[in-house]
Amino acid sequence: MSVLKGKTILVGVTGSVAAYKACELVSRLMDCGAHAKVVMTESAMKFVTPLTFESLTGEQAVTDLWTRTALYGSTVHISLAQSVDCAIIAPATANIIGKMRCGICDDVLNCILCAIQKPVIIAPAMNEAMYKNVVVQDNIAELKKRKILFIEPEEGKLACGVSGKGRLAETKIILNFLADTLKSC
Ligand SMILES: Cc1cc2nc3c(=O)[nH]c(=O)nc-3n(C[C@H](O)[C@H](O)[C@H](O)COP(=O)(O)O)c2cc1C
Repeated sequence: MSVLKGKTILVGVTGSVAAYKACELVSRLMDCGAHAKVVMTESAMKFVTPLTFESLTGEQAVTDLWTRTALYGSTVHISLAQSVDCAIIAPATANIIGKMRCGICDDVLNCILCAIQKPVIIAPAMNEAMYKNVVVQDNIAELKKRKILFIEPEEGKLACGVSGKGRLAETKIILNFLADTLKSC
């Protein structure tokens, strides 16, 4: 994992029960010597708190497009899009995948995804029926054509109580994918 050392990685967290796994991902990135910049959607904050990520990274998680900060100035979405080496959205909801496909920019994470010119990796997590929904699959296929990278969700027990395909990929798989992506940049 030495390729992760010194790299700045934007970790986007969206509104899924699997958001708690983003805490482990961020912690592992910090252990590897990477700088994790966490950006959360409003829904993500229903599942985990910005304070958790602040404790793990030593930096405030970005949750708002409108707040001017000393670190990023008034255009946090552009500052972050330009300063990171790559972005990983984990977990990624069906909602953010759809918004990304359409270029919707109604929160800070979606604005960053519109402005970023570095590799973007999406790790979806959702109920199997949502994942297999024809619109979601069409959105994924279209984003793949635009060079957005995807980490397949796994089969297993889902938060809704049933088993199926939709579990967020394991942290070690996400870390390996990130390392391979950064190697080939
Ligand atoms: C308990 C609960 C769990 C949810 N889990 C997921 C999920 O795993 N994947 C998903 O795509 N949506 C899930 N949703 C729905 C999203 O939270 C919802 O679509 C939300 O608008 C996503 O916003 P965001 O993409 O801005 O984070 C869940 C909702 C609830 C109430």
